Amino acid sequence: MSDDRLDANDAVCATSPRLVIEIISLFPEVFTSFLQASLLGKAIASGLIAVERTNPRDFSPGRHRQVDDSPYGGGPGMVLRPDSVAAAIDDAENRRGRAHRLLLSPSGRLFDQKCAADLAARKRIMLICGRYEGVDERIAQLYADQSVSIGDYVLAGGEVAAAVIIEATARLVPGVLGCGESVVEESFSAGRLEFPQWTRPPIFRELGVPEVLLSGNHAEVARWRRREALRRTLLYRPNLIDRYPLTEEERAMLAELEGTA
Ligand code: ADE
Repeated sequence: MSDDRLDANDAVCATSPRLVIEIISLFPEVFTSFLQASLLGKAIASGLIAVERTNPRDFSPGRHRQVDDSPYGGGPGMVLRPDSVAAAIDDAENRRGRAHRLLLSPSGRLFDQKCAADLAARKRIMLICGRYEGVDERIAQLYADQSVSIGDYVLAGGEVAAAVIIEATARLVPGVLGCGESVVEESFSAGRLEFPQWTRPPIFRELGVPEVLLSGNHAEVARWRRREALRRTLLYRPNLIDRYPLTEEERAMLAELEGTA
């Protein structure tokens, strides 16, 4: 494991980004518009976050720039060769330093909000994107600090998974979000799904807004939101209750919800 976590009071200055993200990908162009849009685009433009892309094809040892080959032991599809991926990683790190390296793979550990927070506290992370039937296992053995999956489904490659991880991580980097509070009050931060939100107009297609949200009573609004967060969590993600047990207040809310169900 690379020990590259930031100290809480590490200085942020225009010349040193708070987080450097290295992407190793055969399709670096996939990220272009994604990295320019919205808050992430602004964070990159302001120098708060830097993203570098390195293509293993530029390091292919063969004349035909081939980066894949058939799997030993037989079977369908092609496997990414370790030599060009390793050379791309080495080149990126020789230029900019050791990163915490993640190999994107459907057989990795499931990515979650806690992983995002861990990555956001680092100085330098690397996302190694697989393609085809996967990457030669020696990259996992020799290079990866961890293998990460974004869900129980198989994508055509790691690029979309890398984009998910970049977005979830970048918004936790101090200074990327306008309002610090939105990080705290959202789904998963406290092991609960987020409460529902409403805005203007007050009536939309004959549907109004819950009365309590118009009451101006902040304590009541906050309690109502915690209860709705619990209701959603019970409905859609009951497994989160096992991992983050009910508080005393939530036990009372549960009784209320059972009364209103
Ligand atoms: N590559 C292909 N499928 C993936 C997944 N579910 N997560 C991460 N990388 C992948």
